[in-house]
Amino acid sequence: MDGIKGRRSIRKYKRDPVPEEALRTVLEAVRWAPSWANTQCWEVIVVKDPKGKAELGTALSKRNPALSSMTDAPIVLVLCGKKGISGFYKGQAATVKGDWLMFDTGMAMQNLCLTAHSLGLGTVVIGLFDHKKVEDILGVPQNVEVVAMTPLGYPAAEGVAPKRKEPSEFVFYDKYQRK
Ligand SMILES: Cc1cc2nc3c(=O)[nH]c(=O)nc-3n(C[C@H](O)[C@H](O)[C@H](O)COP(=O)(O)O)c2cc1C
Repeated sequence: MDGIKGRRSIRKYKRDPVPEEALRTVLEAVRWAPSWANTQCWEVIVVKDPKGKAELGTALSKRNPALSSMTDAPIVLVLCGKKGISGFYKGQAATVKGDWLMFDTGMAMQNLCLTAHSLGLGTVVIGLFDHKKVEDILGVPQNVEVVAMTPLGYPAAEGVAPKRKEPSEFVFYDKYQRK
């Protein structure tokens, strides 16, 4: 619970490099995420080249509060999902939800963020950007989609915890019911 509650979205980064061992550990955390029938549809592109990070930053709106983190942090991790694998059985969607890649990559991202936090590293899930542009920049093939990105680096400023709903606002017992 300390790790879960203590993790914050970090939008200000030091330029200090991330040790290779720490990067490996963060990627190992992705590897061990749960996934539909262990299909592991996730793929991660590690971007360290300053020019590459800056180019990715052009896919974010100027109003995205995470914009400067794309260039300040020493690493940007781009989380992708292979389409048509998670949630499928013999090529057919097994549920009304269709592709579960957003779900599985979401679980992988949470593992990534919590593990980074445990190593003193910051992350912020970035979902608001031009996905098509990022896919073009990185040469992502048709059968794969970019889901989200996160900078990875040492925090220059701690985040402030935004307020959470109370369990009474989102937990129901026995049936869905609003008081
Ligand atoms: C799917 C998703 C997309 C997000 N996209 C952005 C984003 O584009 N820019 C940003 O600054 N933060 C983004 N965030 C971070 C959220 O704003 C943040 O997690 C939320 O305000 C709670 O704050 P905390 O992570 O510090 O607990 C995103 C988070 C998620 C889960």
